[in-house]
Amino acid sequence: AEADNAGRTGSKFVVVANRLPVDLEKLPDGTTRWKRSPGGLVTALEPILRSNQGAWVGWPGVADVDLDPIVEEGLDLYPVRLSAQEVADYYEGFSNATLWPLYHDVIVKPEYRREWWNAYVEVNRRFAEATSAASAEGATVWIQDYQLQLVPKMLRMLRPDLTIGFFLHIPFPPVELFMQMPWRREIVEGLLGADLIGFHLPGGAQNFMYLARRLAGQQTSRGAVGVRSKLGVVQVGFRTVRVGAFPISIDSGQLDEISRRRSIRHRAKQIRKELGGPKYIMLGVDRLDYTKGIDVRLDALYELLEEGRIDPADTVMVQLATPSRERVDSYVQMRGSIEQTVSRINGEYAQVGRPVVHYIHRPIDRDELIAFFVAADLMLVTPLRDGMNLVAKEYVACRSDLGGALLLSEFTGAAAELRQAFLCNPHDLDDVKDKMEAALHQKREDGRRHMRALRRQVLAHDVDRWARSFLDALAKHGVAGSALLPS
Ligand code: ADP
Ligand code: G6P
Repeated sequence: AEADNAGRTGSKFVVVANRLPVDLEKLPDGTTRWKRSPGGLVTALEPILRSNQGAWVGWPGVADVDLDPIVEEGLDLYPVRLSAQEVADYYEGFSNATLWPLYHDVIVKPEYRREWWNAYVEVNRRFAEATSAASAEGATVWIQDYQLQLVPKMLRMLRPDLTIGFFLHIPFPPVELFMQMPWRREIVEGLLGADLIGFHLPGGAQNFMYLARRLAGQQTSRGAVGVRSKLGVVQVGFRTVRVGAFPISIDSGQLDEISRRRSIRHRAKQIRKELGGPKYIMLGVDRLDYTKGIDVRLDALYELLEEGRIDPADTVMVQLATPSRERVDSYVQMRGSIEQTVSRINGEYAQVGRPVVHYIHRPIDRDELIAFFVAADLMLVTPLRDGMNLVAKEYVACRSDLGGALLLSEFTGAAAELRQAFLCNPHDLDDVKDKMEAALHQKREDGRRHMRALRRQVLAHDVDRWARSFLDALAKHGVAGSALLPS
């Protein structure tokens, strides 16, 4: 970072997200180490910043630590400090017990608490200030996700010279649900501080446009928003804000390459052996979150076993579940009920040394995870609501052998693109069961044809294309002359 004309130091391209791409971990012996942060946001953005010079502003994942900026080759990290109280109120509270359930169709009831909101405002201000300090004159700043919806406006007020983009990684809810939010106008106005606001799907963009008219009283365009095209327009005083749909993706080429390695193929075979050589391996890979419908797939399995439609002698389910938001009530409850269902299924259908459900509540190594994808005959992706769901795309990218099948909930963003999957309604247990059974027993030739079509979609639309399409639109519509994007 060099000083520029305005005497500022800082980066020309800055990503802002609640979490840094790495989490600081405190070990029992008092020492610390860095590990990769959980979730799809980091999966998607990490490869982009690795290949572009830039900075990342975010929280290091533990409370009450003061860290200096970490200036690395290619990527500067600017840690934002949160106190333990702020982690409770801003992160666990407003972000994950108010916004997360509200934006995911109120699967659990959102709690509206004034002290959580106050912490959200306070922490968003701190992120805006840290971002301002990290940004060079005329820089491009890309703010991520629901934890930071007020930052665009706060940052705009501090730094009118910046080009500001915002991307929401989770669904933007139907208007009727959003209207519950006591601070609904503040949130819409916060987002309108950006030059470009991105959603995964046109539907979310349209919901937002309606609210910009109704809650913020702004003039907007009325035509339909397209995918990576036809942006919506909101006039905010003299400024023009663009609204678009940019479905996120993965580094498909890299996954494809890794999954072809001999070591991964070998490990996949070994996994099947370790599972007792079953005919069918079904796999779930998720953060342990109530939106993911882990209960749905377990209930479906239980009934299929009960009805004799699945034979516990030749079929196993593996559920890899990363711990997530472990101090939020609804997560504690859901974990209890999922673990109970796993035990019930095994209690009734397992043999000694041969469980039907293998459940791992720990994060899995990247290479090991890829080997599981390669080994699985059926990938179970059954969320009740999911902005995109990268796991579905990862599975497809790992199946260059054209084997395997994907069961995919219609209530994921990915379902809009992965039309050749076995699509199911997770609220209709009979539908889930029928599709599960059909996917397990599909003809080999049909399976190969489906997988070929799915792979064409995922390999052509990778995360690089996602970032390019967003950043190109941002450069075109950002503060005049300021958009200096990494090439
Ligand atoms: P979300 O962002 O809601 O967590 P996504 O499916 O979009 O959901 O992204 C999840 C990311 O986390 C994927 O890259 C996936 O591979 C990774 N992941 C999920 N579960 C595990 C697990 N048990 N072990 C390791 N990585 C996981
Ligand atoms: C989802 C959200 C991200 C979040 C991730 C992990 O992908 O969209 O913003 O970082 O889940 O959740 P966590 O609460 O651990 O950051």
